[in-house]
Amino acid sequence: MDEIIIKGGRSLSGEVVVGGAKNAALPILTASILAKGKFTFQNVPDLRDIDSIKELLSTMGAAVECDGHTVHIDTTGMNHYEAPYEQVRKMRASILVLGPLLARMKKAKVSLPGGCAIGARPIDLHLNGLSLLGADIKLEHGYVEATCKQLKGAEIYFDTPTVTGTENLMMAASLAKGTTVLRNAAREPEIIALADVLSQMGADISGAGTAVMTIKGVKKLQPVTTSIIPDRIEAGTLMIAAALTRGDIKIKNCDPLHLKSIIHKLEKAGAEVRIFKKSVRVKGKKIINSIDLKTMPYPGFPTDMQAQFMVLMSVANGFSVIAENIFENRFIHVSELCRMGADITISGNHAMIKGVPGLSGAPVMATDLRASASLILAGLAAKGTTTVSRVYHLDRGYESLEKKLACLGAAIKRVPAKPIT
Ligand code: UD1
Repeated sequence: MDEIIIKGGRSLSGEVVVGGAKNAALPILTASILAKGKFTFQNVPDLRDIDSIKELLSTMGAAVECDGHTVHIDTTGMNHYEAPYEQVRKMRASILVLGPLLARMKKAKVSLPGGCAIGARPIDLHLNGLSLLGADIKLEHGYVEATCKQLKGAEIYFDTPTVTGTENLMMAASLAKGTTVLRNAAREPEIIALADVLSQMGADISGAGTAVMTIKGVKKLQPVTTSIIPDRIEAGTLMIAAALTRGDIKIKNCDPLHLKSIIHKLEKAGAEVRIFKKSVRVKGKKIINSIDLKTMPYPGFPTDMQAQFMVLMSVANGFSVIAENIFENRFIHVSELCRMGADITISGNHAMIKGVPGLSGAPVMATDLRASASLILAGLAAKGTTTVSRVYHLDRGYESLEKKLACLGAAIKRVPAKPIT
């Protein structure tokens, strides 16, 4: 297992290019199940979660080939309908195969993902929606077993907007008979990206990006060549790096429209943000203002940026309160940040942060994907050396983050972990 070693205190500057969005690529790759033939996906990030979904599609009989950031998937020979525990436990988003498998093969057997470090993360809304579409669903031996004769359009109301739940239902409904209306649907840019690809494949979807989506089922979908949108969370993480290190970074190949809530908060924190068509430039200022924030479904502030923003607030001037409203256990980075000198107290879903003049480098351990990014950010700002271990979490969702940061002037390197004696 690798570690990342950072000598903190350097101001970062220069230009950096953002990769394709993990959370857009995952549902889009699984959408290939819906049609027989050869798909080509461009701008696919090289990540462990993407490897997991490619492996899962191969297990199901798809032929998957990669050429840099281009992934070719031929689903002609796909004949298995099972997502086994060994694969789903590596990545919860494997549940995204459930809707497409059911639509194409009329049956699916997918391991229940279970909880994860950041919370219980149920899938009841996925299952409830699929049963409203006419699937017969059984939960047995840790697996969801779903069958149907033909999915039929239905009115589906989500108690809470769920991103992968909305995506699963969009994919299933695309091949259902009749019209499906999804109410209180998730509105993330990744939902619009999936709707665009499904429409390109021949689906009839309207309202993507709003809370009410209408999907008129079609008989057949076709394979396509398409490209993945930029990763707004990678872009946001690099924007925080600029503000935190009082640097000046131009983040290229991003969509500033997707970054509005992050830009808004960074400006309030005192950073200067210049917006271009496909890039943003962030200049950090000496004084970082403390501000409060709440995580919310899009277009609110993303939970996937909460840990990174907390690092910025931990060296801000004054007190701030962060409310985590999406996942119940998403403060596991806090104890590690405190070991680096941050002054943070947790009460329920609120973190109270008293800004300190500076952090100090320490050995820390990554516990989930975004927490690992926050520890790397903390290491960039801290005095002395920080060693972040268990970086396999980071590799699930950031491609070569340490190389990108090194190009911006960070003293950062990846090394194989020392064996424990
Ligand atoms: C997706 C993202 C993840 C992000 C999260 C919230 C992907 C692959 N992952 O995860 O990076 O942090 O959205 O923006 O896109 N819920 C239920 N029942 C369900 C489904 C969800 O109660 O059946 C609850 C969850 O516990 C959570 C909230 O709904 O409190 C939102 O979760 P959801 O949007 O489903 O997260 P994911 O799709 O798993």
